[in-house]
Amino acid sequence: MALLVWNDSYSVKVRRFDDQHKKLIDLVNQLHEAMKAGKGSAILNDVLGPLAAYTQTHFSEEERLMLYNGYPGYMEHKKAHDQLVAHVRDFQKQVEAGTASVSLGLMTFLKDWLLQHIQGVDRKYGPYLNEKGVA
Ligand code: FEO
Repeated sequence: MALLVWNDSYSVKVRRFDDQHKKLIDLVNQLHEAMKAGKGSAILNDVLGPLAAYTQTHFSEEERLMLYNGYPGYMEHKKAHDQLVAHVRDFQKQVEAGTASVSLGLMTFLKDWLLQHIQGVDRKYGPYLNEKGVA
């Protein structure tokens, strides 16, 4: 069973970001499957890399659109993004150095962070961006 399953209550009412969130959920699930299958750290790093890269791409797109539209919650939102990026970078370094591995604790952290973020600060920008003509 997948760790995370998309449902419509996760929608932020901006289609491109719903699509990106679905892809992030898919990548988190791929990492979880690889961990459950007992894959080695090299393979886990191969899955973690694209997840980290796509997360940054997604954050950049949200930030660009929020900034472009003068969204008042931009700074708070960017801070949350920056904190997660720093956390994941730090973890990647530890995996590369062999001092950490993908664990159930990490998967739970990623799952909880993603769901709380999408249903919290992400959802807040929906009505504002919709008002600006972004759907
Ligand atoms: Fe969808 Fe703010 O990340």
